[in-house]
Amino acid sequence: MKQIIIEGGHVLEGTIRISGAKNSAVALIPASLLCDEEVRIDNIPNISDIDALNEILEYLGANVKRDKNTIEIDSRNIVNKEIPEDISRKLRASYYFMSALLGKYKKVEMYFPGGCSIGARPIDQTLKGFKELGAVILEEGNKYTITAEELHGGHVYLDMPSVGATINTMLVAVKAKGKTIIENAAKEPEVVNVATFLNNMGAKVSGAGTSEIVITGVDYLKGCFTEVIPDRIEAGTYMIAGALLGNKLKIDNIIPDHVESLSLKLKEMGIPMEIGSDYIIISKTDNMKKINVKTLGYPGFPTDLQQPLTTLLTQCKGRSVLEETIYENRFQNVKYLNELGANIEICDRKIYVQGPTELVGKEVTATDLRAGACLVLAGLLATGKTTIKEVEHVLRGYENIVDKLKNVGAKITLKDV
Ligand code: EPU
Repeated sequence: MKQIIIEGGHVLEGTIRISGAKNSAVALIPASLLCDEEVRIDNIPNISDIDALNEILEYLGANVKRDKNTIEIDSRNIVNKEIPEDISRKLRASYYFMSALLGKYKKVEMYFPGGCSIGARPIDQTLKGFKELGAVILEEGNKYTITAEELHGGHVYLDMPSVGATINTMLVAVKAKGKTIIENAAKEPEVVNVATFLNNMGAKVSGAGTSEIVITGVDYLKGCFTEVIPDRIEAGTYMIAGALLGNKLKIDNIIPDHVESLSLKLKEMGIPMEIGSDYIIISKTDNMKKINVKTLGYPGFPTDLQQPLTTLLTQCKGRSVLEETIYENRFQNVKYLNELGANIEICDRKIYVQGPTELVGKEVTATDLRAGACLVLAGLLATGKTTIKEVEHVLRGYENIVDKLKNVGAKITLKDV
């Protein structure tokens, strides 16, 4: 087990360079299996979720070369066999192998995917997309055997703009016969990154980034190169660190438009920022104003930043209200923030954060990835020592978080226990 230990209260100054987006990279890697030649993907973050996907690639027999932040994948010789439950359960994104293998071989056998425990997270919309494109699904407990005599185009309406269901439907549709339309598609930048990758291979995907995506199937996908976009959630997490403790902290290598819902909220709080073409410089200020926030699909405020933002709300004057509309159990960080001294009440899907409150270091637990990020931010601010247990969750999604924060002045260490 790993722990992060932080001595709080140190000013953060200098530059943090943002890595490739976890939620793009975890889709691009399985998507590469659809390619009939070799692909290269740059700007892959070194996080444990990528290691877990690599394990699946190697299990299937793909030829994988990983060097620093680049991965080369040649899947011409893979064997389409059942993916065991213990590896598919390691992360949510394992289900992108479901669609990639189905799209390539018209058959896949695997188990329900894992992922942070933040709500029920069903996969009914993904399965609906598969069925519409001609697949037959056999469900036995947690196991899915999905087959198709022929995959063909279809008209898929998603009941909610699910990122996973949008990407999964795209992956099955790129080699299906004819035209597929996805209505009420997710508009997240990660969906666009995947569509660009597929188009670089020669696929015909248009409309990614809007709520209607149109895909015309092709027979062959050629080798290509692509790059993972900067991680807007990692960027947002460090922007919040800058708002808590920054002295002109520069968050570099970002796409400012992708974090606009956060930067506009920070502006509403009165936080000084300089926004450049690929960076944001941010400093702490006194007298932050309370705000109200509601999580929504992109371009709304991302659910993945609501837990990190909660730490900042504890320092705003007055009662902020934060409403989580995407997941039903994404407030497990609140208990621990309150133990550190925050004054937060949970009421159904909303939390009420009364601030400002002093935070004092203690031992706390990271229950999931973004709850862990929230507690790291709290530890940076709190007086004294904060020990965060079970930080494996954090290391799933933040490349070099300890070194990145150390380099800008934090007193933070990672310990094996
Ligand atoms: N939903 C369904 N049925 C489905 C699919 C989704 O009911 O078939 C519901 C979910 O239960 C949830 C909502 O729709 O309430 C959104 O789910 P979505 O499918 O969009 O989420 P996801 O694809 O499972 C990805 C990210 C999440 C991020 C969400 C929303 C990956 C691997 N995960 O999840 O990232 O919160 O989109 O943006 O890309 C994280 O990074 O911490 C994280 C949880």
